Amino acid sequence: MEHQVLIFIFLLAYAFSVQVPPKLKPGSSKDPLKDSKNKTELIGTNATLVPVVTAAPEKLAEVHIDQHKTIRISKGDLDDLLDVYMERIAESAATIKDKDIEINKLQTVNPTSDDLQVRLDNLTQTCSAQNASQTTAIKEKDEKIKELETKVKIYETRLKRKQHLVTELKKQNTSSTALINHFRSKAVYFEKKFREKKDDLLADWEAATTTCIPFGKSSGIHLLHIPGFLPFLVPCEGLTTAGAGWMAIQRRIDGSVNFYRNWDSYSKGFGKLNGEFFIGLEKLHQITKSQPHELYISFKRFNGEWSYAHYDDFLIGSAEEGYELKLLGHYQGNASDALRTHDKMKFSTFDRDNDEFTHMNCAEYHHGAWWYDFCSRSNLNGKYFKDEVDNVQGIYWEPWYSFRSLKSVQMLIRPKSQKELKDLPKTKKNLRNL
Ligand SMILES: *[C@@H]1O[C@H](CO)[C@@H](O)[C@H](O)[C@H]1NC(C)=O
Ligand SMILES: *[C@@H]1O[C@H](CO)[C@@H](O)[C@H](O)[C@H]1NC(C)=O
Ligand SMILES: *[C@@H]1O[C@H](CO)[C@@H](O)[C@H](O)[C@H]1NC(C)=O
Ligand SMILES: *[C@@H]1O[C@H](CO)[C@@H](O)[C@H](O)[C@H]1NC(C)=O
Ligand SMILES: *[C@@H]1O[C@H](CO)[C@@H](O)[C@H](O)[C@H]1NC(C)=O
Ligand SMILES: *[C@@H]1O[C@H](CO)[C@@H](O)[C@H](O)[C@H]1NC(C)=O
Repeated sequence: MEHQVLIFIFLLAYAFSVQVPPKLKPGSSKDPLKDSKNKTELIGTNATLVPVVTAAPEKLAEVHIDQHKTIRISKGDLDDLLDVYMERIAESAATIKDKDIEINKLQTVNPTSDDLQVRLDNLTQTCSAQNASQTTAIKEKDEKIKELETKVKIYETRLKRKQHLVTELKKQNTSSTALINHFRSKAVYFEKKFREKKDDLLADWEAATTTCIPFGKSSGIHLLHIPGFLPFLVPCEGLTTAGAGWMAIQRRIDGSVNFYRNWDSYSKGFGKLNGEFFIGLEKLHQITKSQPHELYISFKRFNGEWSYAHYDDFLIGSAEEGYELKLLGHYQGNASDALRTHDKMKFSTFDRDNDEFTHMNCAEYHHGAWWYDFCSRSNLNGKYFKDEVDNVQGIYWEPWYSFRSLKSVQMLIRPKSQKELKDLPKTKKNLRNL
């Protein structure tokens, strides 16, 4: 820089020391600068720095450095020299310009500390704003996580409950499976039993008889086949005080069956053949109609006494005849002839009043069903009492209208041909020989 300034000064000195020639006409070909290079262009717009050199081309320029020193230099050399320096100056100027631009740039690029503060503040604000929003977002996420955790817990609880249920169901399944297996085996058992029974029944069917006589002393339920009537089951009684081959038609032993029933029920029969039952009037009619029968009734009192009544000709009429007690035959026994007054009477139930009273329903009055007349000296289908009572509704068999209730009763019939009964029940030997 210093060097350039020196040159500059030198040049100025040179310029002022040069003798300025008289004015030249513009556009004249004799203009000395016309042929020389354009110095101002080299140094840009800074015209002030451009020295105006006007010297005669051939003459030597005399440059007085001081009073003692003078340098003589030709115009051509000076021009060359000037060119060199001008170039250098231009270079320097360019460099300076570059530097200025750089400085400017730096000045615009480098913010002041105030700018920085503002930016920092801005950044801080932005950051805290972001922080705030992030914090909110995080809080929301936290809450969501909590919610989800709660849900997960609920689902876990439900799952546990379900698992518990499944376990329970599995247990139940096991026990029901066991039950099912149990019932299956039972079913198999019953099927087998049923088949056996069926076989028995089939055998019975083939061996179906019109009486219980073929079964002799053996007791059991057998199929009876009366010609012209559908076969039906009857209990045969082989071991009785009256001997073998009897058929039970009515039995009272414990009051387990209700005997206060209507006409239809008495017509068809009801109860359990191995317990309390009534065989049914229609069957009674069919059996006694098919061949002559005898009737044997045994009674047991609550005090342990037992007695019997035997009628040697027992016949029941048809439904049209009101199941009339048509025949009784001769009485024999030690109970009393309490059925005699009912001879030739129709059967009565509470809903079929065939008794001799016009203004009274004997079946209702005696709570039973019988061949009532005015009304009754016997009432074997009456109400069962657990103790001996004197009650018109009870099961009784009395010589003269008294009503001591009985503990058990059984009515048996057998074809009349079995005349051996006449000797019965005097000796047990005879019983066995039957
Ligand atoms: C010298 O500079 C002047 C002014 O800028 C210009 O008009 C002229 O044409 C230039 N001469 C040459 C030879 O470049
Ligand atoms: C001289 O040149 C510089 C840099 O280019 C410029 O900033 C300045 O204005 C110029 N001066 C004149 C008088 O033109
Ligand atoms: C922070 O600077 C940005 C970009 O320079 C601007 O958009 C925003 O408005 C400024 N924020 C504040 C708070 O000054
Ligand atoms: C972000 O926000 C939380 C809570 O609002 C605050 O505790 C924390 O200091 C903040 N952090 C910054 C860098 O601002
Ligand atoms: C129930 O038991 C049966 C028989 O043991 C078995 O086949 C079935 O898979 C069981 N079911 C379940 C739900 O455990
Ligand atoms: C009825 O006769 C039977 C047989 O002879 C006898 O066992 C029974 O005790 C008698 N009953 C009464 C009450 O006399």
